[in-house]
Amino acid sequence: MPDGIFAHPRLARVYDAFDGDRDDLAAYVGIVEELGAGRVLDVGCGTGCLALLLAERGYTVVGVDPAEASLQVARSKAGAVRVTWVRGDATSLPAVSAELAVMTGNVAQVFLTDDDWTGALRAIHAALEPGGHLVFETRRPQRRAWQDWAAGTGEIRLDIPGVAVVTRRLEVTQVRLPFVSFRYTYTFLSDGTVLTSDSTLRFRDHDELITNLAHNGYRVLDVRDAPDRPGHEFVFVAKRTT
Ligand SMILES: C[S@@+](CC[C@H](N)C(=O)[O-])C[C@H]1O[C@@H](n2cnc3c(N)ncnc32)[C@H](O)[C@@H]1O
Repeated sequence: MPDGIFAHPRLARVYDAFDGDRDDLAAYVGIVEELGAGRVLDVGCGTGCLALLLAERGYTVVGVDPAEASLQVARSKAGAVRVTWVRGDATSLPAVSAELAVMTGNVAQVFLTDDDWTGALRAIHAALEPGGHLVFETRRPQRRAWQDWAAGTGEIRLDIPGVAVVTRRLEVTQVRLPFVSFRYTYTFLSDGTVLTSDSTLRFRDHDELITNLAHNGYRVLDVRDAPDRPGHEFVFVAKRTT
């Protein structure tokens, strides 16, 4: 069951506004070009920001996400007909024989158990053509992002076109490494509605990820930095080997 921020229709509609400029996505468009992948599978595509950027550039894109409310936002955007949108999770991917699978926005951290993560890696492997690539990001545990989240508990207030003013507050509710839990509280000032969304993410380390990938049929070609968040992320570039 995806978190409220992705699955609640009212929260999914304000997700992009609070997510801000997607400075992170240019690097992924660059990686797709670099790898020469024509068919791209966007796993956990959410509101479709990367899928739409790629489709606009002529790539064949399938976006998969379990949150129907986020997919509805994606389907309502300009150019959405160019993308094939599929409701499903990472373990139930369509057999698209993709040249590249991507997980942006730290989707890799939503898989909390070893079984969930292994299941996702195996299903992605099956959805890739032989020799296809998997590219994903995950926050470096050493950077301790949750400390920044806990320190910056100020309220963000946005006037969102078509929605009116919404405020968002972030609270870190538990740090029990490798798991970090947090809660967003949104207030819709137009009618006073207050909605909360609780999330837990898993922070996996570099060596653990290298091992996980090797055990599930991938060879790691590179582990990069995210150019828009230097020092914060691992960006894994892996290749299906079996
Ligand atoms: C932080 S959002 C990132 C969305 C998108 N990749 C982006 O960069 O904007 C995380 C996404 O992971 C999705 N998600 C949660 N559980 C999932 C699962 N088991 N399989 C695939 N996606 C999942 C959520 O619904 C949500 O859309």
